[in-house]
Amino acid sequence: MTHPAVIDELMTLVDPGKVLTDPASLEAYGKDWTKHYPPAPSAIVLPKTLEQVQAIVAWANRHQVALVPSGGRTGLSAGAVAANGEVVVAFDYMNQILSFNEFDRTVVCQPGVVTRQLQQFAEDHGLYYPVDFASSGSSQIGGNIATNAGGIKVIRYGMTRNWVAGLKVVTGKGDLLELNKDLIKNATGYDLRQLFIGAEGTLGFVVEATMRLDRAPRNLTAMVLGTPDFDSIMPVLHAFQGRLDLTAFEFFSDKALAKVMGRGDVPPPFDTDCPFYALLEFEASNEDVANDALATFEHCVEQGWVLDGVMSQSETQLKNLWKLREYISETISHWTPYKNDISVTVSKVPAFLRDIDAIVAQHYPDYEVVWYGHIGDGNLHLNILKPDDMSKDAFFASCARVNKWVFEIVERYNGSISAEHGVGMTKRDYLGYSRSADEIACMKAIKAVFDPNGIMNPGKIFAPE
Ligand code: MLT
Ligand code: ZN
Repeated sequence: MTHPAVIDELMTLVDPGKVLTDPASLEAYGKDWTKHYPPAPSAIVLPKTLEQVQAIVAWANRHQVALVPSGGRTGLSAGAVAANGEVVVAFDYMNQILSFNEFDRTVVCQPGVVTRQLQQFAEDHGLYYPVDFASSGSSQIGGNIATNAGGIKVIRYGMTRNWVAGLKVVTGKGDLLELNKDLIKNATGYDLRQLFIGAEGTLGFVVEATMRLDRAPRNLTAMVLGTPDFDSIMPVLHAFQGRLDLTAFEFFSDKALAKVMGRGDVPPPFDTDCPFYALLEFEASNEDVANDALATFEHCVEQGWVLDGVMSQSETQLKNLWKLREYISETISHWTPYKNDISVTVSKVPAFLRDIDAIVAQHYPDYEVVWYGHIGDGNLHLNILKPDDMSKDAFFASCARVNKWVFEIVERYNGSISAEHGVGMTKRDYLGYSRSADEIACMKAIKAVFDPNGIMNPGKIFAPE
């Protein structure tokens, strides 16, 4: 734990009352949405300016204090968990949209701007911030950048990385760097901006981000389709992608749907029970597009790939269909799931899912397994639910044995052990399944350049040595 006199010095660097050490704050700010590690930070500091962030970093280097950057704490890999006496740097008071340029279609944000705040700002200006996910109401832009957040629109718009025009960062050394100057074209060597995106706060702090906006989509329309088996989902994706520009293509299993139905506040898509469901979305900007979608649906039914389906006819129906997918994560969190977030190239998805499903079923026939994910991106979410009568520790210990088998399959398929949730602490011991030893050595060398004293989020991405 950090010495009280050192914490007293920290208090002189920020506004009065902006260092918290009470048990409730330590508990709240020391964790994210994972439930694996008990939070144990020394203190929470809430800077208001980038100069204060620089002062905090200089202080941490002087006293060799580990810092954990904290956003909305909605992460699912313990990337923002402070379990070892670190000081949490939270950006709740750096939450302003600083400027907007309508010609560049860019917005300068402080790191604590909430994703929905940016989406709303874009909408108010007739534009669109397309990175979206269930936690957009509390996740922050700084955290999205740190994890290169993905979500439900990646098939069309890509990950957060695609929307970052420029960054101001304070490195682990305390330097303030302005990266890319918001340019579209910039061929002047290494793009350091990209290194900070997805770095999980291990290189420094994002203190300002210029985010790009897009034109607003026209008449978004969703379809939910029931399929007779998982393999049918791929030809359905192929058929729709051949005729429409999809803005989303998601899937979920009957078990996932049953959990959401169990809430009692979402209407079912249709009466036919199906083992798997696809949710796709497109801009029905004119009647031709809607007719194309219906013709493709009929083709899929004729081929036997689709058993039943529904297309939204209103904004309310669109929202209700999306709830079927977006409510899954929050709903199953009741069962303290063991979560996996894996990806392969899209063409490999059916064989990959079959292999993993078989391994899990063989070793854990009694556990309930819930599949869903961003199938159009090759990103599957495997969730194993904790039986009610089992302790959390016993359950996670037993699931940890699945990791090795699942990640061996990921490696065999040349996939990723984390598609979008990040490595954090939960996957740091398995990084070698997705990255070669030489790559990891390069990554550590890059960290040493920006953070020579190792104060920035130690123990994340890489296992402690
Ligand atoms: C999702 O796709 O719903 C999110 O990544 C969260 C989750 O996997 O539970
Ligand atoms: Zn996801």
